[in-house]
Amino acid sequence: MRMYDIIAKKRDGFCLTREEIAFAVNGYVAGSVPDYQMSALLMAIYLRGMTDEETAVLTDVMAHSGEMVDLSAIQGIKVDKHSTGGVGDKTTLVIAPIVAACGVKIAKMSGRGLGHTGGTIDKMEAVPGTRTSLTQEEFFAQVNDIGIAVIGQSGEIAVADKKIYALRDVTATVGCIPLIASSIMSKKLAAGSDAILLDVTMGNGAFMKTLDEAIELARLMVSIGTAHGRQVAALITDMDKPLGHNIGNALEVAESVAVLRGHGPADLTEVCLQLASNMLYLAGKGDLRSCRALAESTLRDGTAYTKCRQMFAAQGGDVSVLDNPERFPKARYSYELTAKQAGYIAQNDVERIGNASVLLGAGRLKKDDAIDFAAGIIMHKKLGDVVKAGDAICTFYADDPALFEAAEEMYRGGLIIADQPPQLPPLVYARVTREGVERF
Ligand code: URA
Repeated sequence: MRMYDIIAKKRDGFCLTREEIAFAVNGYVAGSVPDYQMSALLMAIYLRGMTDEETAVLTDVMAHSGEMVDLSAIQGIKVDKHSTGGVGDKTTLVIAPIVAACGVKIAKMSGRGLGHTGGTIDKMEAVPGTRTSLTQEEFFAQVNDIGIAVIGQSGEIAVADKKIYALRDVTATVGCIPLIASSIMSKKLAAGSDAILLDVTMGNGAFMKTLDEAIELARLMVSIGTAHGRQVAALITDMDKPLGHNIGNALEVAESVAVLRGHGPADLTEVCLQLASNMLYLAGKGDLRSCRALAESTLRDGTAYTKCRQMFAAQGGDVSVLDNPERFPKARYSYELTAKQAGYIAQNDVERIGNASVLLGAGRLKKDDAIDFAAGIIMHKKLGDVVKAGDAICTFYADDPALFEAAEEMYRGGLIIADQPPQLPPLVYARVTREGVERF
């Protein structure tokens, strides 16, 4: 078999066999297929697409390119959740404790920030002392003991995805539904949970810009997971507006704690409750209505917050900052960005908001950059809000005031204030299961 022929076959629009896909992926991991040939194949896939069967095979081959975690040493149903990425998307920090407080095990591996989007592991590390790297024995023991552990993804999981994702990132082949679906599902299948809830974000801050694309991605991922014997569902959630008000690692932990303690922003609370209810449903805790009631009860009676504290304490985190977020290390400087005119916030590009927070130090511009956990943005006015000239739209936080200028330019470049209010997106657009698509 020759890589040249596999590239030519896909270039000409034909379907690849399992043997051909395995030859390309395993050869790339082993180093016998060079970057330039894998890049050519990825571009051919980007342009020609893949059938559902090819995508399922690609996912399977990538999942088996590394460790397939066996969670059977943890008793009971394990549920995982994955978001396709967003800005101010701190849902895992809220949902995982809610679900664990309802008696369903969370043995979760999460990622770091990528581009303009944040990552759960960076946020957790904003709590001083928190360890996000546990041995497998520690990980299993913690989940068996308190029902929840969230750690960084092991480098041994889906190693092909790691290598291929890095190549896609620099060859303009990220935004391709079969490649995104196989990348996400290879990691989720390898991570071993019995049930997986996918949060497919949609809007100007997400990979998927339209509802049709988001539904197509969700449908494909649900069908791949189902074919592998997992319980899978997806919610299509909005990313035309960041969730809550806070963007940046410590700021987002503080806002998540507010939700867990029952006084968080309404939009973030609602999305978290919908995601958590669906996870409980997949874990067999009853119909969606009773799962929603169960999830709500954990916010009311404080058991979800207690579970969150237990998790951070077990992983070495200083829980006094959770009890009193004022104790989080503070940024040295702040800057208020104000409205230049009166009107409605008619557009507020989410990708630009995320990039502004990266410029303030909350994310990485280069792979090995250190993160400033205190840096970020608090939004006072969001899409659809009314402003007067001079009103504070948001506050920037950084350790160096020289960072404010570039961040302001980035933020203002996506901000439009107009006389007419915009049409506001719903929080959740649709639910996709093996039975079909339910649009809201
Ligand atoms: N997230 C992933 O893990 N992979 C993709 O391809 C896109 C988003």
